[in-house]
Amino acid sequence: MTLGTDNDLAAELVAMAGRTDHPAPGPDLDPGRVAEAVLAEVLGRAALLARPPAQVDIQFEFVTPERTLGYVVSVGPRTDLVTGWTEDPAVRIRQDLAESVRQIYGPAGTPADTTRQVTVRSEPGPTSAAPDDPAALRWQAANIAAGQLVLAFSAHQHDLATLALKFGSDKWGGHWYTPHYERHFGPYRDRAVRVLEIGIGGYQSAALGGASLRMWKHFFRRGLIYGLDIADKSDHDEPRVRTIRGDQSDVSFLIGLNDRYGPFDIVIDDGSHLSAHVIASFTTLFPLLRHGGLYVIEDLETSYWPTWNGGRTSLNDTTTSVGFLKTLVDGLHHQEITEPDLTEFGRDVTGVHFYHNMAVLEKGANRDQAAPAWIRGD
Ligand SMILES: C[S@@+](CC[C@H](N)C(=O)[O-])C[C@H]1O[C@@H](n2cnc3c(N)ncnc32)[C@H](O)[C@@H]1O
Repeated sequence: MTLGTDNDLAAELVAMAGRTDHPAPGPDLDPGRVAEAVLAEVLGRAALLARPPAQVDIQFEFVTPERTLGYVVSVGPRTDLVTGWTEDPAVRIRQDLAESVRQIYGPAGTPADTTRQVTVRSEPGPTSAAPDDPAALRWQAANIAAGQLVLAFSAHQHDLATLALKFGSDKWGGHWYTPHYERHFGPYRDRAVRVLEIGIGGYQSAALGGASLRMWKHFFRRGLIYGLDIADKSDHDEPRVRTIRGDQSDVSFLIGLNDRYGPFDIVIDDGSHLSAHVIASFTTLFPLLRHGGLYVIEDLETSYWPTWNGGRTSLNDTTTSVGFLKTLVDGLHHQEITEPDLTEFGRDVTGVHFYHNMAVLEKGANRDQAAPAWIRGD
């Protein structure tokens, strides 16, 4: 059985689990679909951990007021999933379905494991001291599998550099961006954010790419992740990850994208890295970003490369990415400046951070008054 990629359902469950007044799936949601969405999340998280050394059959039981739903997951060197029941499984995990939803999709700190029962089958125990003793291996594998799946239910978190390495993103290695991301994205980690990344990776190959989308999905465990690429990347759609095909320099397309899937809390531009595209995307999407949101631009080195329509010597050329971004520093101080008029973005930029080849812009109301006239001596 393959678990579906129902992003609308995932979005609905995240929204629902965040509401304290109605934190259980409503009667209009099919419990089977909900249980499968929960399992998809749990198995996706468990896949980041080391596999048990032998194949282990696990009986999942999700309890609803009307009935109990059964799924048998076999984990180990391979992973299989079937609906239903198995006699005498090595591990049995039973939990209220509504509580599982709250635990997977709700904010951290929601009391969420009050109904869980985990049972590991009693084995005869090691029959010899040999390291490959089959009984000892079975017992060890069952306990590892049980521990990992229970861990996967909770909000266990890997740091971003580890996730980048696991998924093969060059945001750590090649580039050294993840500490900057940790610093700025850390406070958003547990929130139900909408994240848009421009540039999915793999260029024309449909099969390649998607590393950073998967990394963001695991970093923002309650986030909805959207990836935009000029090439078709729909092979990378999965629960909470949706790919969209389009051109980051097409302003009307970007507005339609925001209407359909936004407003976004975070936008990351890791697309063509051509200055004209970077500026078109920023000037369109930054005004549409949520207040309190972040806009990140990567690989600013291309701003200095003439072959990428950059300027190595004309450092204040505002048609280059870095030249343009520098104007935001003055925009940030728009209250103190009369000429030129830099208020277009300045009123909504509350922070401008530059790192090597990367910039992070904070969105918010930058309306504080200017220093008093008597201090300025006007
Ligand atoms: C550097 S890769 C993205 C890597 C990915 N973000 C990661 O970290 O794994 C750049 C991607 O941008 C895409 N791209 C190039 N021009 C684009 C454009 N005009 N609009 C949208 N995507 C574009 C390319 O197809 C390529 O897949």
